[in-house]
Amino acid sequence: MDTLEEINLKGFVDEYIDPTLDLFVEIEKLKKEKNAVILAHYYQEGDIQDIADYIGDSLGLSQQAAKTDADIIVFAGVHFMAETAKILSPNKKVLLPDLKAGCSLADSCPPHLFRKFKESYPDHLVITYVNCTAELKALSDIVCTSSNAIQIVESLPKDQKIIFGPDKNLGAYVAKKTGRDLVLWNGACMVHEIFSREKITKLKERHPNAKLLAHPECEDVILQMADYIGSTTGILKYATNNPATEFIVATEAGILHQMQKDNPTKKFFPAPPNNTCACNDCPHMKRNTLEKLYLCLKNEMPEVTVPEHIIVRAVKPIERMLEISAQLGL
Ligand code: 13P
Ligand code: SF4
Repeated sequence: MDTLEEINLKGFVDEYIDPTLDLFVEIEKLKKEKNAVILAHYYQEGDIQDIADYIGDSLGLSQQAAKTDADIIVFAGVHFMAETAKILSPNKKVLLPDLKAGCSLADSCPPHLFRKFKESYPDHLVITYVNCTAELKALSDIVCTSSNAIQIVESLPKDQKIIFGPDKNLGAYVAKKTGRDLVLWNGACMVHEIFSREKITKLKERHPNAKLLAHPECEDVILQMADYIGSTTGILKYATNNPATEFIVATEAGILHQMQKDNPTKKFFPAPPNNTCACNDCPHMKRNTLEKLYLCLKNEMPEVTVPEHIIVRAVKPIERMLEISAQLGL
């Protein structure tokens, strides 16, 4: 097997896997042996979603990470999600199948620049979208996700000045919905900024009854066309509960796996991007594979760690979010 240094360099355990092994069976065995739980985001490949103990959006995944009694959490998602799990459960081992599964949105907000930005607004409270580094969370007052951002902002007094980061699209959407004047950090997600208004319009012409479902990380031009705007869990629930039979989905394409599974007779079309590529895959989310997940559980590596002094500060805004969400029944 690779040395720890090599694993850190590559981001994953690179080991020969006997091709006759049934990875689904092996992963189940390892999970029981090690008292491990697999938490997966909807943007993971279908096989990973199928073997997971829990699939969800960022809020659901944080809630699960906070309450699990497993000894090991295998986080099938990206680095900031695994960090959040570690912050909430510091005594558990948190594994990420590929350490290099990052996030363009988290990368768009370097903590040293955000610290300076924050200093220019000393009387503002800082709300950060969960898609950011642990260091950024440590600079925040409250964390939010796409499923509770509006409610978190509304839970604060109307005259409270607020900085919102790092996603400018989610921030602008929340400002519009709440009527609050938020100071926005200029960050964005590479996947959600790719959708083409023109191509979606053409697709809608061919499927006039299709509902457009969009994630609030999309740009305003896309959100304006949407029949529903929400988190991945919100999008999935809307498609299941709505009588329409066709849906155009403006978020990362991994969600279609669960949408199709839950609604086998309905049709789902990924919203077309403004380039020649036909897919809306997040290259970070898709770094994780079933093989890497198996190897990381088997070897208990790579592990996600967060320095103690960051955990102490970052846990408060995350717990505040979880408390507000619980009070609101989210
Ligand atoms: P949610 O699943 O919380 O809506 O988040 C979407 C996302 O971009 C995660 O990276
Ligand atoms: Fe980050 Fe966007 Fe990928 Fe989500 S979809 S992990 S926000 S780059």
